[in-house]
Amino acid sequence: MTHISASLLAADYARLGDETQRAEKAGVDSFHFDMMDGHYVPNLALTPDHLRALRPYSHLPFHTHLELDNPDHLLSTFSSLSTGMIIVQWDTLTDPNRTFDKIHAQNIKVGLGLNPDDQLEDIACLFANIDLLLLLGVYPGFGGQVMQPGMMEKITGARHLADASKRPLLIAVDGGVKPENATQLVEAGADILIMGTALFQSADMAGTIKSIREAASLSQRH
Ligand code: DX5
Ligand code: ZN
Repeated sequence: MTHISASLLAADYARLGDETQRAEKAGVDSFHFDMMDGHYVPNLALTPDHLRALRPYSHLPFHTHLELDNPDHLLSTFSSLSTGMIIVQWDTLTDPNRTFDKIHAQNIKVGLGLNPDDQLEDIACLFANIDLLLLLGVYPGFGGQVMQPGMMEKITGARHLADASKRPLLIAVDGGVKPENATQLVEAGADILIMGTALFQSADMAGTIKSIREAASLSQRH
């Protein structure tokens, strides 16, 4: 079944606890926390303190997306927080396998994020040491953007490489995901759809999730 992860960047920041519970009730599978530093991306966003504060509001997995420079400096912060996955951006890593090992040593899964311009060929050699490949559909920094062209081909390519790798590898798409492109993304090979604006701005979040799941389950891949 298609996994839907709610990106809290698009939630109402004045009511984050309520928003988390609303999304859980509506049927999401996990929460996605974008942490931004105002340097790697021209925006500031959530922090480890948000993750800690929101933990009592949901039993669902929390995934952390580090859109910041020097992710290595922050990794130890997460040892006492219950995040099931840390996603690091490929172009912020000086020694990718060392970073992955540090994350795995904390019993946390590793995601590797690629910007729209990053090429799959450059990172296929890292697949043996990651659990998830996150393909950004937009340039990182802001929610509510339109997905860049060429994403379906990129996901298809990633799916082939992932299926050929020795380790089970999930593919997530983040940025610009909406009901209108969700089925196509799943057909191309996405396992996880990360959605911010399309969920939190929806007048009927539960209905949106249900219709995406139903359409995806009829698609050729599932
Ligand atoms: C972009 C973030 C995304 C963003 C997605 O830098 O990594 O997680 O929140 O937002 P939407 O779904 O609004 O494009
Ligand atoms: Zn993200």
